[in-house]
Amino acid sequence: MFKVCSSQTMSLSSVDFDYLRHLVRQHSAVTLDAGKEYLVELHLSNFVRQAGFDTIANFVEHLKVSKFGQLHIAAIEHLVNYETTFFRDIYPFEALKDHILPEIIERRQSYQSDKIKIWSAACSSGQEAYSIAMLTREHFPTLNKANLQIIASDFSHKALTRARNGIYSALEVKRGLPANLRKKYFQPSGNEWQIDREISSMVDFYQINLINSWSDLPFQQVDILFLRNVLIYFDINTKKNILYKMKQIIHPQGYLFLGGGETTLNLDSDFERVKLGQAIAYRVRTL
Ligand SMILES: C[S@@+](CC[C@H](N)C(=O)[O-])C[C@H]1O[C@@H](n2cnc3c(N)ncnc32)[C@H](O)[C@@H]1O
Repeated sequence: MFKVCSSQTMSLSSVDFDYLRHLVRQHSAVTLDAGKEYLVELHLSNFVRQAGFDTIANFVEHLKVSKFGQLHIAAIEHLVNYETTFFRDIYPFEALKDHILPEIIERRQSYQSDKIKIWSAACSSGQEAYSIAMLTREHFPTLNKANLQIIASDFSHKALTRARNGIYSALEVKRGLPANLRKKYFQPSGNEWQIDREISSMVDFYQINLINSWSDLPFQQVDILFLRNVLIYFDINTKKNILYKMKQIIHPQGYLFLGGGETTLNLDSDFERVKLGQAIAYRVRTL
């Protein structure tokens, strides 16, 4: 017989919801929409039980009276959206293959010797960065660790651990990943799929919170920046601040990709929109 857990035990008061919203916002800038208490309940209930609390209310009470620590971080990390797929919204990857990488490679051959740098900022469980790695391995075999750096970052330790492990469910490898690439670059691991070291070793992972200072970023002058499906969770000032910081990092001839529902319009007029095939990218205007 199943033990039925009363929905009341895990239901969330508006005061506790506001506390959690504030906590998430303060540490990630992500805004949880008002009226989405049920989503918080959905994402926190199991974790709260596993952590030994009977109710979300008791858990929140504990967070309120405790010094900021691992449980606060875990709560925040359970409430952020990690949705991603391999080759998500395919057009930026086509633009990378057909326009951007050929252009940069040609430029590098004539007068630049720096590594080509591609940054997947807010990489979630790594599919975006690994898609870039597989694409370059397939179409630009002369690119390797000596002349290409693929950087993947996220603020979430939970997301980065998954990304570094490179292990994906059967469902995840069905989303966006062409069958030939799955066969070529993944090995079965129980019911899951492990990406080959040949691909995972192409990506350098860092824990970077987009809202913190970037004065000590371990890289500069990024040629191609994937900042997709994360600005959408931030308020206008946070979006502006992050775009401002991106401008300092991006190579003067570099490209920025945002998510399908995101734009620099009305946020930063220094970016201009360019169409590359079916993809929209942004470049910093030159005066
Ligand atoms: C919806 S996923 C997008 C993943 C990927 N960029 C894509 O488009 O498929 C959003 C990611 O943003 C990350 N994120 C949220 N707030 C962040 C912040 N302040 N700094 C860095 N990453 C953040 C989350 O942890 C999550 O992995």
